[in-house]
Amino acid sequence: MRLYTKDSIERVKDAVDMVELVGARTDLRRVGSRWTALCPFHDERTPSFSVDAQRGFYHCFGCGASGDAIGFVEAMEGLDFREAVESLADRYGVELKREQEDPQAEEERKRRERLLKLIERTTSYYERVLWESAEAAHARDYLASRGLEEEVLRTYRVGYSPSAWDKVLLAAQRDGFSREELLAAGLAQQGRNGGGVYDRFRGRIMFPLADARGRVLGFGARTLGEGRGPKYLNTSENSIYHKGRQLFGIHQARPAAASAGRIVAVEGYTDVLALHQAGIREAVAIMGTALTNEQLQELRRAAPTAYFALDADSAGQEAMLRAGHMARDRDLELLVVQLPDGRDPAELVAENGAGAFLSLLDRALTVAEFEVRRVLASADLGTPRGRDHALAALRPIVAGVPPRTATRDELVRLVADRLNVDPSYVMSQDSPSTAPSAEASRPRPRAPLAPLDAVAKSERGFLAMCHGSELGKEYLERLERDHFSYEPLWRVREHLLSHWDDPLIALPDDDESFAVLIKDVVLRAENDDVSAEALRLTFLQLDLARVNRGLRRAEQDQDFDVQRTLARDRQRLRDQIDELMGLTL
Ligand code: UTP
Ligand code: MN
Repeated sequence: MRLYTKDSIERVKDAVDMVELVGARTDLRRVGSRWTALCPFHDERTPSFSVDAQRGFYHCFGCGASGDAIGFVEAMEGLDFREAVESLADRYGVELKREQEDPQAEEERKRRERLLKLIERTTSYYERVLWESAEAAHARDYLASRGLEEEVLRTYRVGYSPSAWDKVLLAAQRDGFSREELLAAGLAQQGRNGGGVYDRFRGRIMFPLADARGRVLGFGARTLGEGRGPKYLNTSENSIYHKGRQLFGIHQARPAAASAGRIVAVEGYTDVLALHQAGIREAVAIMGTALTNEQLQELRRAAPTAYFALDADSAGQEAMLRAGHMARDRDLELLVVQLPDGRDPAELVAENGAGAFLSLLDRALTVAEFEVRRVLASADLGTPRGRDHALAALRPIVAGVPPRTATRDELVRLVADRLNVDPSYVMSQDSPSTAPSAEASRPRPRAPLAPLDAVAKSERGFLAMCHGSELGKEYLERLERDHFSYEPLWRVREHLLSHWDDPLIALPDDDESFAVLIKDVVLRAENDDVSAEALRLTFLQLDLARVNRGLRRAEQDQDFDVQRTLARDRQRLRDQIDELMGLTL
């Protein structure tokens, strides 16, 4: 079940310097025995974020985010537990020990690690060639002429592949890699009719395609000249590189997306680079226009809202519509950015600056608005017949927007206004084409659970802390529905209590994503050594988050009695937490 031994995970946590880790994201100030800062997880003007460096905890009194170093990296960088552990182990030089693995899996993993190493060193090699070789001078000039500066090119590790047939091949073989490995890594290819093996990429600008942790898996390679093969040559599908999963720039975009709460999807590599250089760092390229479900999932992991800024040509527009429909069942809010005709984001920021692009983001449309505007733009509004046609096409679009919302209201008014009909016609029930019910009442497949936000992650962390120890069980029993901002975690708590001895035996088999959530909690549990003090502190933090939510509700409802009671609770909890955190130093 567990991938790394408990002991190695403990060693990772011990090795982490919380002040350095958190300090890279927000300015920490020492206040007495604690560190405080503006919370990196939500917008605030006075610091309510606090770090207990000694025990390795952070907590935000404002939004309720809390956890340990691993939780911090998960939330900040949008990684999952395993990725966060691996990334911290890398950063702090801790060697992770695995629970025993079957020999075949171990062999496969080692082979994969070698291929990744080969690709990594080749990436560095291409970088060196770009910056140091005479042969790459025209590539450097070209990139400069596109307005791309050295800093951004280095950030994305852009490189250049020499034009010789065998530079990579020979150098890698000299260092002990086999031809077979070069082929498997997508760096070499076999000549026709069983001819020799030679370098796949020659004389091109190399854009490394990396995963969320920054491990390079393949390349997109742009030609400089005319007429020599396709404009872009990519690594072909292999055991490591899968085009459908790839988002160019995801590694660099993650942290920015996590704090901005949005991710920007563009078509091309150069768009991502230009946006980054202009200060818009949460951009990734879907590499063309055909979006896959896997890419969509990856976007959702990075942020709850995706802005699609694909070209204004018909391929780009069609692609945004398709993406919008794909996003609907995935709990991803997708907004459509309307670029001026014939301009891609790179050209836009180069000519008009970052502000021009940011204001387009501000004016992005919902998918329904975008569809409605498209229909209106191509409709014949001059004749009643033309307007009826448009109306028939528009009704199902408007019907797809939840009723009694401002968005729907505005769409109805827009349509009525442009078609010059009474607003009540737009959604009139007597028209057969209205029939929104067929679509709306169709049983939806069970939606995958949403990725957790920072607060829900803290709740999950507490469940994991509780699992397996007697004291933990007592705390679980004290938890109430209100302690959870995220309902499925409340159900996990129920499940843990009702299957205390082995929660993994009785996993629900009709609800895959819920089962995954349970496994996730159990997998994190390493409670032998969770101290009573840490349990109590985390419980108090959860309780405080509950009170804060209650307070916000009571403020909205203007319920002053409840506000008074909760404010007292809040003060009491803060005092207790202060005392507990103060005690340890
Ligand atoms: P573009 O042709 O718009 O390329 O394709 P670009 O990156 O903007 O290149 P410049 O501006 O001419 O330098 C958009 C994206 O589609 C993918 C690439 O990811 C490219 O960045 N693409 C395009 C390919 O993978 N293969 C191709 O042959 C063309
Ligand atoms: Mn382009």
